Amino acid sequence: MLSSRVRNLQESATLKINATVNRLKQEGKVIYNLTAGEPDFAPSDAAKAAVIEAVNKNQSKYTPTPGIPELRELIAKKTNAQQSSLNHPWKAAQVVVTNGGKQAIFDSVFSLIDEGDEVLFSSPYWLSYPEMVKAAGGTSVILKTTADSEYQLTPKDLEAAITPKTKLFIINSPSNPTGALYSKHTLQALGEVLEKHPQVWILSDEIYDLIEFEPGTWCSFLEACPNLQSRTITVNGLSKSGAMTGWRVGWSVAPDHMTSALIALQGHSTSGICSLSQAAAIARLKQPAILFEPQVKEYLHRRNLALEVLRKSAKIDVYEPKGAFYLFVDCKKVLTGNQDANGFAERLLQEAQVAVVSGVDFGAPTCIRLSFATDESTLLQGCERLVAFIHSLS
Ligand SMILES: Cc1ncc(COP(=O)(O)O)c(C=O)c1O
Repeated sequence: MLSSRVRNLQESATLKINATVNRLKQEGKVIYNLTAGEPDFAPSDAAKAAVIEAVNKNQSKYTPTPGIPELRELIAKKTNAQQSSLNHPWKAAQVVVTNGGKQAIFDSVFSLIDEGDEVLFSSPYWLSYPEMVKAAGGTSVILKTTADSEYQLTPKDLEAAITPKTKLFIINSPSNPTGALYSKHTLQALGEVLEKHPQVWILSDEIYDLIEFEPGTWCSFLEACPNLQSRTITVNGLSKSGAMTGWRVGWSVAPDHMTSALIALQGHSTSGICSLSQAAAIARLKQPAILFEPQVKEYLHRRNLALEVLRKSAKIDVYEPKGAFYLFVDCKKVLTGNQDANGFAERLLQEAQVAVVSGVDFGAPTCIRLSFATDESTLLQGCERLVAFIHSLS
């Protein structure tokens, strides 16, 4: 008999839809796939060359559990640049390199949460948060946000939700799935609430940090709330900004005792991440951030093209994302009876050959998520077919 922890876990909705898309493609169908949770760009030439060099130099041994020292240094430097208001800049020893940002989040949740502890985050949420909390034996307390309030949590909502059992607050900006982005001012207001509750840790998931559509609007949580450094874990990685999803490079930056716990956990589970990926990460992080700008411009261009098409339909409500590479679309006006976005997404795929991710697993049952991390032609045709499908429903 499997443990109750794994018995209750849900299969990832994004992986499920991708399996259906692949099956339909194998049957010879043309599918307009807007489900991608990863960039359609290639890693930088410098990162690729570094992998090849590492292979040729036989860099094939175990690496230290928390990562190669040079890489930890570079991550501390990047984080300190984004959190310049800290009184105590991070040291390399407070960095743990993980198998993607996912492992950093999973291990943080596992390190903090005991049976019955509460973890707060807002919906729509990244679908792995509740599953990770469940796996650790905790309880997710989900605070609903809507497009009307820019999918932002208010300090009042946060204050009202904190109880003596609250152990962790997770914040994700820019957000997957909505593309919402918290301003420095709002983060400060949330930070003021959190300062009053010293038992609450904060995990700031900053995996989409570089993908902001108005330069200078994104702010790291600790840049806004430096007083919370002693109980904040910053999670980031190169999956999105380095276009290196498959190379699995993420990290946590956290206070000493939390870092020790994370290293212990990783030491007994995965050990240090792939040596070749670390070589790529070192090369990538040595490159100036400005190199990423053309990709952000391309995402912005695609976002605007897609918005133009989707806004032709008054029957859907489309949120204009401020960062990341997703469009979150509310279809409630066209859902009938008890239908939720699962049924809608299934019909859209079968009848219009457009693949999107249902919002049900993101905690937004009337919404769908479209990714614009795909080529312009697929994106435009997919959006046009979606609009035509919606009109065919009435
Ligand atoms: C919000 C968010 N956090 C974390 C991750 C994890 O990224 P990875 O493990 O690929 O680095 C993802 C990936 O889709 C994400 O969307």
